[in-house]
Amino acid sequence: MILSIESSCDDSSIAITDINDYKLIFHKKISQEREHSIYGGVVPELASRLHAVALPKILKQTKEFFPNLKAIAVTNEPGLSVTLMEGVMMAKALSLSLNLPLIGINHLVGHIYSLFIEKEAFFPKSILLVSGGHTMIIQVESYKVMRVEAKSMDDSFGESFDKVAKMLGLGYPGGPIIEKLAQKGDPHRFSFPIPLKNSPKIAFSYSGLKNAVRVAIEELGELSEQDRADIAASFQKAAIEHLLQKTKKVFDIFKPKNFAIVGGASANLALREAFEKECEKRGIFIDFAKMEYCSDNAAMIGRAAIEAYKLGEFSDPLGLKVNPKSSIT
Ligand code: KG4
Ligand code: ZN
Repeated sequence: MILSIESSCDDSSIAITDINDYKLIFHKKISQEREHSIYGGVVPELASRLHAVALPKILKQTKEFFPNLKAIAVTNEPGLSVTLMEGVMMAKALSLSLNLPLIGINHLVGHIYSLFIEKEAFFPKSILLVSGGHTMIIQVESYKVMRVEAKSMDDSFGESFDKVAKMLGLGYPGGPIIEKLAQKGDPHRFSFPIPLKNSPKIAFSYSGLKNAVRVAIEELGELSEQDRADIAASFQKAAIEHLLQKTKKVFDIFKPKNFAIVGGASANLALREAFEKECEKRGIFIDFAKMEYCSDNAAMIGRAAIEAYKLGEFSDPLGLKVNPKSSIT
């Protein structure tokens, strides 16, 4: 079994996965959404302190599996340095004290493997990753061979939901709040600009859309419940339309047969529906991670770590470093 740890942002999570049949033996996650909600976003130092309490609490529940462990895996990039550090320190201590190999996992690779929890992986696959930190399309040939085909030039898809929710005074994380509110709103009331609509660029951008929403909010002054819902619906429509327009360009060029969407924001049902429709039209197989594995979790880190374990890709338990940026760019 592999014990895996995730603490790249505001979720403290530990999983135990069977190396032979991918079975998830244990999986717990303690989220900090409530604690960060009043600030409208994640406060890194607060997140780090909360991990320092939550991770040992979860770890205690895994003691019975220690004799069966073959490796310790941990997210070491990308993410918030101070929170990544909490998981990495724990993983190093476990690796050294239990004399087990250590595996550093890239969080984005973890999201990719959220598709294959308790399953065999199959590639090649074109994968749209939409999270709070990233918006990118990655062509995945194998665990070792990945190529970024498009990425955001500024804000990420999930981050733009968080920022719009903050502007509307609605708390954190903004994604689920905006999605729910959008169901009661008119998506045609505000015609927010679709980012890079007339640009041939195959890239994403969310800062302009976010600013257009800010201007609309300022122009309205006092906001009614209906105003908020209409803004949420109109914003969500533009945000998804932009993803779809640029992904279609990638489809036209690279003609993938297998496509998937992963990351926290892939839980958005309007997004899923729009992409399902497009893929059906084009005869492309589309896949999503199970709802419970879309947002950050240690199960996906453990699943990715099985691939590293089988390839003998281990990290030095004293030398493994935390990297706030991704080495996959
Ligand atoms: O993957 P994730 O848990 O953390 C990162 O790796 O960043 O993604 C969290 C992001 C947040 O920005 C959150 O607002 C967004 O995913 N999100 C959503 C939805 N659920 C979560 N965005 C849009 N619609 C949703 N339903
Ligand atoms: Zn994530």
